Amino acid sequence: MADQIRVLIVDDIPETRDHLTKLLGFESDIEVVGAASSGAQALQLAAELVPEVVLMDINMPDMDGIAATERLSAEVPDAAVIMMSVQGEADYLRRSMLAGAREFLVKPFSSDELTASIRQVYAREQEKQSRRAAAPVMASTNGTGPVAPTGGGGDRDGQIVAVFSPKGGVGRTTIAVNMAIAAATELGKSVVLMDGSFQFGDVGVLMNLNPKNKSIADLVPELEAGEPESLDTFVINHSAGVRVLLAPPSPEMAELITPTAVRRVLEALRTQHDLVIVDCTSWFNETTLAILDAADVILTILSLEITSIKNMRLFLEVADQLGYEHGKVKLVLNRADSSLGIRVTDVENSIGRKVDHTIVSDGRSVVYALNRGVPFFLSNREAEVSQDVLRLAQAVAGERVAAGSDDARKKTEKKSLFSFR
Ligand SMILES: Nc1ncnc2c1ncn2[C@@H]1O[C@H](COP(=O)(O)OP(=O)(O)OP(=O)(O)O)[C@@H](O)[C@H]1O
Ligand SMILES: [Mg+2]
Repeated sequence: MADQIRVLIVDDIPETRDHLTKLLGFESDIEVVGAASSGAQALQLAAELVPEVVLMDINMPDMDGIAATERLSAEVPDAAVIMMSVQGEADYLRRSMLAGAREFLVKPFSSDELTASIRQVYAREQEKQSRRAAAPVMASTNGTGPVAPTGGGGDRDGQIVAVFSPKGGVGRTTIAVNMAIAAATELGKSVVLMDGSFQFGDVGVLMNLNPKNKSIADLVPELEAGEPESLDTFVINHSAGVRVLLAPPSPEMAELITPTAVRRVLEALRTQHDLVIVDCTSWFNETTLAILDAADVILTILSLEITSIKNMRLFLEVADQLGYEHGKVKLVLNRADSSLGIRVTDVENSIGRKVDHTIVSDGRSVVYALNRGVPFFLSNREAEVSQDVLRLAQAVAGERVAAGSDDARKKTEKKSLFSFR
């Protein structure tokens, strides 16, 4: 059958390979195209047979499943890996997802669980590939993850999206990180996530990145000395296919980042990516304002709390005085279904405008993800909270077409409440 899902089985135990082959033999829409007994053989067979789904055992003697998945993601990026493990430990799950696996099955699993996973991963992959084919600007592959964004270049005119809120702790970092991953993995965008919380940034923590990596503090002096050819040295490739520009490693280094420096950094990032997502601080200092000014869209996050609503009202007034067009500021209500005695309509009445997007509260997925260092969009893509984030990413990515980029950029003569240097 032409539309069968082509599956490659990788397991060092012959009985397991046979068992899985027999099990899948009953499914008319699945074809086992090969079986490999080691990571090295898996890479070789995957290159020859071009499977759509690879069932990968995590524990193998020569090259383990994680190392094999990492190489597969680079060498045969369209093959989606389902990792199989006898251990359901968080660390295994985290490392597998970061290596580029799409699903994680804990042995023993039922044949229903197995076939459902294969079909789900396949369907998701097909959808992603058709979206990618439709996207005019596509990222090139540099072998670090499922979707590897551009490295050099510099001829793009990406969209800057500031994730802001006038109150802390409402979910800015959570939304910025997961939206970046959604835009990269599901929409095929080349995405850079900049931690704009220069003193106490937590993007690196949520994405489990080594704080010893280079940060914006290294990039700024380079940009001041003259345009560096590539940002690759400063921007980290996260295995989810997103690039990340970290905040400085220590709070006092934040002083280096002047408003002028921020503007230069954003311009440099914009020319190399489709989307530049910035996780901002919740206070109005000059650098945050420089980010908000430069942004095409400001996603303003609020929660169902009186203080959040009050600060939002004030922010909308400030945005007005700054001359931001109405469409530039979008309201995102996080944890919109929390039952705290305030309803969405109360919020809308209080601030005098409609909420543009809502995101459900899902403490389980969010905290589970946080504690394991794997963003929930990677580990639990089907969850409602992930779907909400995906809808937000889709709306934002389509924003430019809707708003018209020229309009969105006409802000040079805008009034300013602050005197920028
Ligand atoms: N949709 C959600 N459902 C459940 N919990 C959430 C959700 N969004 C965020 N949280 C939780 O709320 C807390 C604050 O989130 P986050 O750190 O993303 O907010 P922030 O605005 O970036 O905060 P800060 O001011 O510290 O930078 C975290 O514990 C996070 O796990
Ligand atoms: Mg934060």
